[in-house]
Amino acid sequence: MNLHILHQTALAMVAPGKGLLAADESTGTIAKRFAKIGVENTEPNRRAYRDMLFTTPGFEQYTSGVILYEETLFQTSLAGEPFPKLLAAKGVIPGIKVDKGAKPLAGGGPEETVTEGLDGLRERLVKYQEAGARFAKWRAVITIGEGTPTDYAIRVNAHALARYAALCQEADITPIVEPEVLMDGDNTAETCERVTERVLSQVFRELYDQRVALEGMVLKPNMAVSGLKCPQQASVEEVAERTLRVLKRCVPAAVPGIAFLSGGQSDEDATAHLNAINQLAAAQGAPWRLTFSYGRALQHAAQVAWAGKNVEAGRMAHLHRARMNGLATQGKWSPALEKAA
Ligand code: 13P
Repeated sequence: MNLHILHQTALAMVAPGKGLLAADESTGTIAKRFAKIGVENTEPNRRAYRDMLFTTPGFEQYTSGVILYEETLFQTSLAGEPFPKLLAAKGVIPGIKVDKGAKPLAGGGPEETVTEGLDGLRERLVKYQEAGARFAKWRAVITIGEGTPTDYAIRVNAHALARYAALCQEADITPIVEPEVLMDGDNTAETCERVTERVLSQVFRELYDQRVALEGMVLKPNMAVSGLKCPQQASVEEVAERTLRVLKRCVPAAVPGIAFLSGGQSDEDATAHLNAINQLAAAQGAPWRLTFSYGRALQHAAQVAWAGKNVEAGRMAHLHRARMNGLATQGKWSPALEKAA
Protein backbone atom coordinates (compact mmCIF):
# COMPACT_ATOMS: atom_id res chain seq x y z
CA MET A 1 0.00 0.00 0.00
CA ASN A 2 1.34 3.40 -1.02
CA LEU A 3 -0.35 5.96 1.19
CA HIS A 4 1.18 8.85 -0.73
CA ILE A 5 -0.49 7.73 -3.98
CA LEU A 6 -3.80 7.05 -2.24
CA HIS A 7 -3.75 10.47 -0.60
CA GLN A 8 -2.78 12.33 -3.77
CA THR A 9 -5.60 10.66 -5.69
CA ALA A 10 -8.08 11.51 -2.92
CA LEU A 11 -6.98 15.16 -2.97
CA ALA A 12 -7.26 15.32 -6.77
CA MET A 13 -10.77 13.83 -6.62
CA VAL A 14 -11.93 16.69 -4.42
CA ALA A 15 -9.87 19.47 -6.05
CA PRO A 16 -11.35 22.96 -5.59
CA GLY A 17 -14.16 23.72 -8.03
CA LYS A 18 -14.41 20.12 -9.19
CA GLY A 19 -16.40 17.01 -8.38
CA LEU A 20 -17.11 13.52 -9.63
CA LEU A 21 -19.42 12.35 -12.37
CA ALA A 22 -21.06 9.07 -11.32
CA ALA A 23 -21.65 7.38 -14.68
CA ASP A 24 -21.45 3.87 -13.25
CA GLU A 25 -25.04 2.76 -13.70
CA SER A 26 -25.20 -0.99 -13.98
CA THR A 27 -26.78 -2.40 -17.14
CA GLY A 28 -30.05 -2.82 -15.24
CA THR A 29 -30.06 0.73 -13.89
CA ILE A 30 -29.19 2.42 -17.19
CA ALA A 31 -32.08 0.47 -18.73
CA LYS A 32 -34.46 2.41 -16.47
CA ARG A 33 -32.89 5.74 -17.48
CA PHE A 34 -32.95 4.86 -21.19
CA ALA A 35 -36.56 3.68 -21.00
CA LYS A 36 -37.59 7.19 -19.92
CA ILE A 37 -36.05 8.73 -23.06
CA GLY A 38 -37.08 5.96 -25.45
CA VAL A 39 -33.59 4.59 -26.05
CA GLU A 40 -33.02 0.87 -26.34
CA ASN A 41 -30.59 -0.55 -23.77
CA THR A 42 -27.95 -2.03 -26.06
CA GLU A 43 -24.18 -2.07 -25.76
CA PRO A 44 -23.70 0.34 -28.72
CA ASN A 45 -26.23 2.79 -27.20
CA ARG A 46 -24.56 2.68 -23.78
CA ARG A 47 -21.22 3.31 -25.45
CA ALA A 48 -22.57 6.20 -27.55
CA TYR A 49 -24.21 7.75 -24.49
CA ARG A 50 -21.07 7.63 -22.37
CA ASP A 51 -19.03 8.86 -25.34
CA MET A 52 -21.29 11.92 -25.51
CA LEU A 53 -20.73 12.63 -21.80
CA PHE A 54 -16.96 12.14 -21.83
CA THR A 55 -16.35 14.16 -25.00
CA THR A 56 -18.25 17.19 -23.67
CA PRO A 57 -15.85 20.07 -24.38
CA GLY A 58 -14.74 21.75 -21.16
CA PHE A 59 -16.42 19.41 -18.68
CA GLU A 60 -12.98 18.64 -17.31
CA GLN A 61 -12.87 22.13 -15.78
CA TYR A 62 -15.51 20.98 -13.28
CA THR A 63 -14.95 17.23 -13.25
CA SER A 64 -12.11 15.67 -11.28
CA GLY A 65 -13.03 12.08 -12.06
CA VAL A 66 -15.63 9.77 -13.52
CA ILE A 67 -16.95 6.59 -11.90
CA LEU A 68 -17.28 3.99 -14.64
CA TYR A 69 -19.18 0.75 -14.82
CA GLU A 70 -16.98 -2.28 -15.57
CA GLU A 71 -18.26 -2.53 -19.15
CA THR A 72 -17.28 1.10 -19.83
CA LEU A 73 -13.80 0.71 -18.32
CA PHE A 74 -13.00 -1.82 -21.03
CA GLN A 75 -14.82 -0.06 -23.90
CA THR A 76 -13.39 2.30 -26.47
CA SER A 77 -14.80 5.69 -27.43
CA LEU A 78 -16.53 6.12 -30.80
CA ALA A 79 -13.15 7.43 -32.04
CA GLY A 80 -11.54 4.15 -30.95
CA GLU A 81 -9.69 5.21 -27.80
CA PRO A 82 -10.11 3.29 -24.54
CA PHE A 83 -12.41 5.39 -22.30
CA PRO A 84 -9.97 5.48 -19.35
CA LYS A 85 -7.26 6.80 -21.67
CA LEU A 86 -9.56 9.43 -23.16
CA LEU A 87 -10.46 10.66 -19.66
CA ALA A 88 -6.91 10.61 -18.32
CA ALA A 89 -5.74 12.67 -21.32
CA LYS A 90 -8.16 15.41 -20.21
CA GLY A 91 -6.90 15.25 -16.63
CA VAL A 92 -10.05 13.43 -15.50
CA ILE A 93 -9.34 10.46 -13.22
CA PRO A 94 -11.00 7.18 -14.21
CA GLY A 95 -12.66 5.23 -11.41
CA ILE A 96 -14.66 2.03 -11.21
CA LYS A 97 -17.72 0.77 -9.38
CA VAL A 98 -16.70 -2.58 -7.92
CA ASP A 99 -19.68 -3.71 -5.86
CA LYS A 100 -22.15 -6.24 -7.23
CA GLY A 101 -25.24 -4.54 -5.90
CA ALA A 102 -27.41 -4.53 -2.78
CA LYS A 103 -29.12 -7.89 -2.13
CA PRO A 104 -31.80 -8.77 0.45
CA LEU A 105 -30.25 -9.21 3.89
CA ALA A 106 -30.98 -12.62 5.41
CA GLY A 107 -32.80 -12.08 8.69
CA GLY A 108 -32.88 -8.32 8.21
CA GLY A 109 -35.84 -5.98 8.50
CA PRO A 110 -38.22 -5.25 5.62
CA GLU A 111 -36.35 -3.91 2.55
CA GLU A 112 -32.97 -4.25 4.23
CA THR A 113 -30.03 -5.19 2.04
CA VAL A 114 -26.36 -5.95 2.20
CA THR A 115 -24.01 -5.14 -0.66
CA GLU A 116 -22.24 -8.05 -2.35
CA GLY A 117 -18.99 -8.27 -4.30
CA LEU A 118 -16.15 -9.05 -1.89
CA ASP A 119 -15.35 -12.54 -3.20
CA GLY A 120 -12.64 -12.24 -5.85
CA LEU A 121 -12.40 -8.49 -5.36
CA ARG A 122 -8.64 -8.54 -4.74
CA GLU A 123 -8.06 -10.14 -8.16
CA ARG A 124 -10.53 -7.84 -9.91
CA LEU A 125 -8.83 -4.76 -8.46
CA VAL A 126 -5.56 -5.78 -10.09
CA LYS A 127 -7.31 -5.94 -13.48
CA TYR A 128 -9.00 -2.58 -12.93
CA GLN A 129 -5.73 -0.96 -11.92
CA GLU A 130 -4.12 -2.27 -15.13
CA ALA A 131 -7.02 -0.84 -17.15
CA GLY A 132 -6.36 2.60 -15.67
CA ALA A 133 -8.73 2.87 -12.70
CA ARG A 134 -7.25 4.94 -9.87
CA PHE A 135 -10.21 4.97 -7.52
CA ALA A 136 -13.18 2.74 -6.81
CA LYS A 137 -16.70 2.92 -5.42
CA TRP A 138 -18.80 0.62 -3.23
CA ARG A 139 -22.33 1.57 -2.28
CA ALA A 140 -24.10 0.34 0.83
CA VAL A 141 -27.83 1.03 1.02
CA ILE A 142 -29.68 1.83 4.25
CA THR A 143 -33.48 2.12 4.31
CA ILE A 144 -35.49 4.16 6.80
CA GLY A 145 -38.80 2.53 7.77
CA GLU A 146 -40.82 1.05 10.64
CA GLY A 147 -38.13 -0.34 12.92
CA THR A 148 -35.41 0.09 10.32
CA PRO A 149 -32.59 0.44 9.87
CA THR A 150 -31.67 -2.29 12.32
CA ASP A 151 -28.28 -2.16 14.04
CA TYR A 152 -27.62 -5.50 12.34
CA ALA A 153 -28.03 -4.04 8.83
CA ILE A 154 -25.89 -1.03 9.69
CA ARG A 155 -23.16 -3.26 11.11
CA VAL A 156 -22.88 -5.72 8.24
CA ASN A 157 -22.95 -2.97 5.63
CA ALA A 158 -20.26 -0.99 7.45
CA HIS A 159 -18.18 -4.15 7.79
CA ALA A 160 -18.37 -4.85 4.04
CA LEU A 161 -17.53 -1.23 3.20
CA ALA A 162 -14.40 -1.44 5.32
CA ARG A 163 -13.35 -4.79 3.86
CA TYR A 164 -13.72 -3.31 0.37
CA ALA A 165 -11.80 -0.15 1.33
CA ALA A 166 -8.91 -2.12 2.82
CA LEU A 167 -8.61 -4.23 -0.35
CA CYS A 168 -8.63 -1.12 -2.54
CA GLN A 169 -5.87 0.50 -0.54
CA GLU A 170 -3.78 -2.65 -0.80
CA ALA A 171 -4.03 -2.25 -4.61
CA ASP A 172 -3.22 1.50 -4.50
CA ILE A 173 -6.78 2.32 -5.56
CA THR A 174 -8.42 5.09 -3.54
CA PRO A 175 -11.78 3.88 -2.20
CA ILE A 176 -14.95 5.93 -2.25
CA VAL A 177 -16.83 4.75 0.81
CA GLU A 178 -20.53 5.22 0.11
CA PRO A 179 -23.07 4.47 2.82
CA GLU A 180 -26.31 5.79 1.33
CA VAL A 181 -29.30 6.42 3.57
CA LEU A 182 -32.16 6.41 1.07
CA MET A 183 -34.50 9.39 0.77
CA ASP A 184 -37.54 7.49 -0.60
CA GLY A 185 -39.58 7.40 2.62
CA ASP A 186 -41.91 9.77 4.45
CA ASN A 187 -39.44 10.51 7.24
CA THR A 188 -38.37 14.00 8.30
CA ALA A 189 -34.91 15.47 7.75
CA GLU A 190 -34.40 15.15 11.51
CA THR A 191 -34.85 11.37 11.27
CA CYS A 192 -32.52 11.26 8.30
CA GLU A 193 -29.90 13.13 10.31
CA ARG A 194 -30.27 10.71 13.25
CA VAL A 195 -30.02 7.62 11.05
CA THR A 196 -27.07 9.09 9.13
CA GLU A 197 -25.29 9.65 12.45
CA ARG A 198 -25.79 6.00 13.44
CA VAL A 199 -24.55 4.84 10.06
CA LEU A 200 -21.50 7.09 9.76
CA SER A 201 -20.29 6.42 13.28
CA GLN A 202 -20.43 2.66 12.63
CA VAL A 203 -18.70 3.05 9.26
CA PHE A 204 -15.79 4.94 10.79
CA ARG A 205 -15.50 2.41 13.61
CA GLU A 206 -15.18 -0.38 11.03
CA LEU A 207 -12.74 1.59 8.90
CA TYR A 208 -10.59 2.05 12.00
CA ASP A 209 -10.85 -1.60 13.07
CA GLN A 210 -9.90 -2.78 9.59
CA ARG A 211 -6.93 -0.39 9.37
CA VAL A 212 -8.14 1.73 6.51
CA ALA A 213 -5.99 4.87 6.11
CA LEU A 214 -8.44 7.76 6.28
CA GLU A 215 -6.06 10.05 4.37
CA GLY A 216 -6.42 7.75 1.37
CA MET A 217 -10.19 7.64 0.93
CA VAL A 218 -13.17 9.79 0.00
CA LEU A 219 -16.52 9.60 1.80
CA LYS A 220 -19.68 9.64 -0.33
CA PRO A 221 -22.63 10.25 1.99
CA ASN A 222 -26.23 11.32 1.56
CA MET A 223 -27.24 14.76 2.74
CA ALA A 224 -29.63 15.02 5.71
CA VAL A 225 -32.78 15.62 3.69
CA SER A 226 -36.52 15.00 4.15
CA GLY A 227 -37.85 11.80 2.61
CA LEU A 228 -39.46 12.42 -0.78
CA LYS A 229 -42.87 11.44 0.68
CA CYS A 230 -42.57 13.63 3.77
CA PRO A 231 -45.24 16.34 3.68
CA GLN A 232 -42.90 18.81 5.37
CA GLN A 233 -39.82 19.37 3.25
CA ALA A 234 -36.86 20.90 5.05
CA SER A 235 -35.54 24.19 3.67
CA VAL A 236 -32.19 24.43 1.92
CA GLU A 237 -30.72 26.09 5.03
CA GLU A 238 -32.01 23.32 7.31
CA VAL A 239 -30.53 20.62 5.08
CA ALA A 240 -27.18 22.40 5.09
CA GLU A 241 -27.19 22.77 8.89
CA ARG A 242 -28.17 19.18 9.58
CA THR A 243 -25.76 17.78 7.01
CA LEU A 244 -22.75 19.72 8.21
CA ARG A 245 -23.57 18.95 11.85
CA VAL A 246 -23.77 15.20 11.34
CA LEU A 247 -20.58 15.17 9.28
CA LYS A 248 -18.71 17.13 11.94
CA ARG A 249 -19.86 14.67 14.58
CA CYS A 250 -18.82 11.59 12.65
CA VAL A 251 -16.11 12.23 10.03
CA PRO A 252 -12.50 12.56 11.23
CA ALA A 253 -10.48 15.50 9.93
CA ALA A 254 -7.99 13.09 8.34
CA VAL A 255 -10.48 12.36 5.56
CA PRO A 256 -9.48 14.66 2.67
CA GLY A 257 -12.89 15.07 1.13
CA ILE A 258 -16.57 14.36 1.11
CA ALA A 259 -18.40 13.95 -2.22
CA PHE A 260 -22.18 13.79 -1.86
CA LEU A 261 -24.52 11.55 -3.82
CA SER A 262 -27.69 13.17 -5.20
CA GLY A 263 -29.98 10.27 -4.31
CA GLY A 264 -33.09 11.36 -6.18
CA GLN A 265 -32.98 15.10 -5.43
CA SER A 266 -33.92 17.33 -8.35
CA ASP A 267 -31.01 18.72 -10.35
CA GLU A 268 -31.40 22.18 -8.88
CA ASP A 269 -32.02 21.01 -5.30
CA ALA A 270 -28.81 18.98 -5.38
CA THR A 271 -26.90 22.05 -6.53
CA ALA A 272 -28.61 24.43 -4.08
CA HIS A 273 -27.92 22.10 -1.14
CA LEU A 274 -24.25 21.67 -2.06
CA ASN A 275 -23.90 25.43 -2.42
CA ALA A 276 -25.50 26.09 0.99
CA ILE A 277 -23.38 23.41 2.67
CA ASN A 278 -20.23 25.01 1.29
CA GLN A 279 -21.30 28.50 2.33
CA LEU A 280 -21.99 27.25 5.85
CA ALA A 281 -18.70 25.33 5.96
CA ALA A 282 -16.83 28.48 4.90
CA ALA A 283 -18.52 30.45 7.69
CA GLN A 284 -18.02 27.80 10.41
CA GLY A 285 -14.80 26.23 9.18
CA ALA A 286 -14.67 22.55 8.21
CA PRO A 287 -11.67 20.23 7.88
CA TRP A 288 -12.57 18.54 4.58
CA ARG A 289 -13.42 19.60 1.05
CA LEU A 290 -17.11 19.22 0.22
CA THR A 291 -18.09 18.38 -3.35
CA PHE A 292 -20.39 16.31 -5.52
CA SER A 293 -20.36 12.78 -6.87
CA TYR A 294 -23.69 12.96 -8.65
CA GLY A 295 -25.27 10.44 -10.96
CA ARG A 296 -28.84 11.46 -11.66
CA ALA A 297 -28.46 15.17 -10.79
CA LEU A 298 -25.62 15.54 -13.33
CA GLN A 299 -27.06 13.36 -16.07
CA HIS A 300 -30.80 13.77 -16.02
CA ALA A 301 -30.93 16.93 -18.16
CA ALA A 302 -28.27 15.55 -20.50
CA GLN A 303 -30.26 12.34 -21.04
CA VAL A 304 -33.43 14.21 -21.87
CA ALA A 305 -31.59 16.54 -24.28
CA TRP A 306 -29.64 13.71 -25.92
CA ALA A 307 -32.53 11.23 -26.28
CA GLY A 308 -30.32 8.90 -28.30
CA LYS A 309 -29.48 11.36 -31.06
CA ASN A 310 -28.91 15.02 -30.12
CA VAL A 311 -25.24 14.84 -29.16
CA GLU A 312 -24.60 18.59 -29.05
CA ALA A 313 -27.70 19.27 -26.94
CA GLY A 314 -26.72 16.48 -24.56
CA ARG A 315 -23.23 17.88 -24.15
CA MET A 316 -24.54 21.38 -23.50
CA ALA A 317 -26.90 20.15 -20.81
CA HIS A 318 -24.11 18.09 -19.22
CA LEU A 319 -21.68 21.01 -19.26
CA HIS A 320 -24.24 23.33 -17.71
CA ARG A 321 -24.93 21.04 -14.73
CA ALA A 322 -21.22 20.33 -14.25
CA ARG A 323 -20.53 24.07 -14.20
CA MET A 324 -23.38 24.83 -11.77
CA ASN A 325 -22.16 22.14 -9.38
CA GLY A 326 -18.56 23.28 -9.78
CA LEU A 327 -19.68 26.74 -8.61
CA ALA A 328 -21.63 25.17 -5.75
CA THR A 329 -18.47 23.52 -4.42
CA GLN A 330 -17.21 27.05 -3.84
CA GLY A 331 -20.49 28.47 -2.55
CA LYS A 332 -20.68 30.67 -5.66
CA TRP A 333 -23.88 29.33 -7.21
CA SER A 334 -27.17 31.24 -7.33
CA PRO A 335 -30.57 30.43 -8.87
CA ALA A 336 -30.10 33.41 -11.19
CA LEU A 337 -27.26 31.55 -12.93
CA GLU A 338 -29.71 28.82 -13.90
CA LYS A 339 -32.07 31.32 -15.47
CA ALA A 340 -29.28 33.17 -17.24
CA ALA A 341 -28.27 29.92 -18.91
P1 13P B 1 -27.03 9.57 -7.58
O1 13P B 1 -26.33 10.90 -7.52
O2 13P B 1 -27.97 9.44 -8.73
O3 13P B 1 -27.60 9.18 -6.25
O4 13P B 1 -25.93 8.49 -7.92
C1 13P B 1 -24.72 8.57 -7.30
C2 13P B 1 -24.18 7.21 -7.09
O5 13P B 1 -23.11 6.91 -7.53
C3 13P B 1 -24.98 6.27 -6.31
O6 13P B 1 -24.22 5.15 -6.02
